[in-house]
Amino acid sequence: MVRIAVLVSGGGTNLQALIDAQNRGEFKDGTIAAVISSSPDAFALERAKRAGIPGYVINRRDYASNQELTLVLTRQLRELDIGLVVLAGFMYILTSELIDAYPNAIINVHPALIPSFCGEGFYGLHVHEAALSYGVKVTGATVHFVSEDCDGGPIILQRAVPIQEGDTPEVLQCRVMEQAEWRILPEAVSLFCQSRLRVEGRIVHISPA
Ligand code: GAR
Repeated sequence: MVRIAVLVSGGGTNLQALIDAQNRGEFKDGTIAAVISSSPDAFALERAKRAGIPGYVINRRDYASNQELTLVLTRQLRELDIGLVVLAGFMYILTSELIDAYPNAIINVHPALIPSFCGEGFYGLHVHEAALSYGVKVTGATVHFVSEDCDGGPIILQRAVPIQEGDTPEVLQCRVMEQAEWRILPEAVSLFCQSRLRVEGRIVHISPA
């Protein structure tokens, strides 16, 4: 059984999609064992509480750097015997200590089709603002393994979403979440827990069920 930790910073709608998938029995070989928030006020902690999942706060404000935060976080994940780390709207860039401790066992969801609109500075609504101002007609979401290259790790799943005339960043964000993120993140977690993902260089091979 893979013990999963979900790292959050805000509303936690992707966390909710994971909780819903778990409740539907989609994680046969995994269980959400912890929700860790970078902020004590994140609504995601309330979602964890309602689902009976232990919530923890590692407040970015208590640490001088992302590296200090990462060291404390890595220790906590080890203590909780975590086998898969899911970044679900986690807003800080984690340093190499965590990536070395969890090779190809950290998954991130990004609200665009990587390699477009990604990397440092591209998070949350900014991603959708960038897609709209560039004028692309299709965007989407990507779930990928986390490497030291920000948003540059091997891609597990992607799903495209059309842009419509008159879209605002907020409207587009909702469509990308509903049509892409909330579907492919639970699917990737389920595949990981079934040991169906094999990484070869940049390529993630998905084996049949
Ligand atoms: C999601 O759209 C997620 O893809 C994005 O933040 C939002 C969090 O929403 N993540 C990034 O931009 C990471 N670069 P949520 O808290 O409701 O899941």
